[in-house]
Amino acid sequence: MPDFRIAHALGSYTVTVRAGVLDELPARVEALWPGRPVAVITDDMVGALMADRLAAGPWALVLSVPAGESSKTRGRWEALTDALFSAGLTRDTAIVALGGGMVGDLAGFVAATYARGIPFLQVPTTLLAMVDSSVGGKTGVDTPLGKNLVGAFHPPAAVLADPLVLQSLPPQHLRCGLAEMAKHGLITDAAYWTELGSAAAALLARDPESLTRFIVRSVQIKAAVVVEDERENGRRAVLNAGHTVAHAVEHASGFRVSHGDAVAMGLVAEAHLAESLGLAVTGLAERVTAGLKRLSLPTRLPVDIDANQLFEAMRLDKKRAGNELRFALLHDIGVMARDADRWTVPVRDASAIVHALRTSGAA
Ligand SMILES: NC(=O)c1ccc[n+]([C@@H]2O[C@H](COP(=O)([O-])OP(=O)(O)OC[C@H]3O[C@@H](n4cnc5c(N)ncnc54)[C@H](O)[C@@H]3O)[C@@H](O)[C@H]2O)c1
Ligand SMILES: [Zn+2]
Repeated sequence: MPDFRIAHALGSYTVTVRAGVLDELPARVEALWPGRPVAVITDDMVGALMADRLAAGPWALVLSVPAGESSKTRGRWEALTDALFSAGLTRDTAIVALGGGMVGDLAGFVAATYARGIPFLQVPTTLLAMVDSSVGGKTGVDTPLGKNLVGAFHPPAAVLADPLVLQSLPPQHLRCGLAEMAKHGLITDAAYWTELGSAAAALLARDPESLTRFIVRSVQIKAAVVVEDERENGRRAVLNAGHTVAHAVEHASGFRVSHGDAVAMGLVAEAHLAESLGLAVTGLAERVTAGLKRLSLPTRLPVDIDANQLFEAMRLDKKRAGNELRFALLHDIGVMARDADRWTVPVRDASAIVHALRTSGAA
């Protein structure tokens, strides 16, 4: 699989997806930044899995934070930044973000702000990070008031994804990536959606060749959406398909439901909503459900969550962002419903939303 280049207004970078490419990490880093000091930022879990590589590499410094979303904070950003300065690293330093989306966002934000910005390499080690968070240039941290509230656009110098590292990924994290990949097909590419369903068993068995092929397609879809967003304002919002409901499910469940599972449930619930509003073709929700099931993704909302409670969570989420309630809805598989020139559709009928949530399994 050849490397390919992503170019958008923020910058351009090469994405490499290949089994075994991690063996080339030291050489790639040397080629990108000859003779410059390079610091690795990772988390404890990935750090332990990669201990040998990290011990052997040409790294000026290896910094690790505890694994998990709770490390994506301004406090960790501060501690990492201070550790780099304490080690005497100046603005000719580069950073390697080695880990899942949490590490990519946090290390990317450190890179975005360190000495007013230094380059960084994304080395995603989760499926979600490979197909989603390492592409598009968004970096940042959470605050107690919400996720990703503080951040910067800072595209990586390159992305290096090795599907072999996914062998050790816990199943729930594999599902997180699969849910976003399913979304990529649903929002832009019916053929991709169909092929994903056909390859479900191979992907779930983590067949490196299948993973490579589909990661590449997903990255290209996300990149195309991000690039178009710059010309055709607001296109990026299609990446929120399923996510309005998903965020509400995550909140209402106290984050017991993982992001990927919530996205799968959200894609189904939002397909029901689109159908009931007459925006989608009949039978869409059924087809979405069948496809997600093949990928072992959940398609019913948790029965112990009340539909009204979910609706309130959605309203609150939008209010915080100062927006009306809009959804990125499908018209058909691979085709978005449009509202004039906009990529999201306002839904003012609260009862239609609550009804769709109940149809999808909420109490
Ligand atoms: N910047 C963006 O555009 C963007 C897009 C989507 C999501 N995100 C962010 O991504 C984050 C979620 O990313 P994530 O799902 O990768 O979570 P994560 O980074 O927390 O990783 C999940 C878990 O898997 C472990 N792990 C990572 N690689 C592993 C491997 N190869 N083998 C075994 N375990 C491994 C991690 O240590 C962690 O415990 C969120 O913070 C989210 O906001 C950002
Ligand atoms: Zn998501």
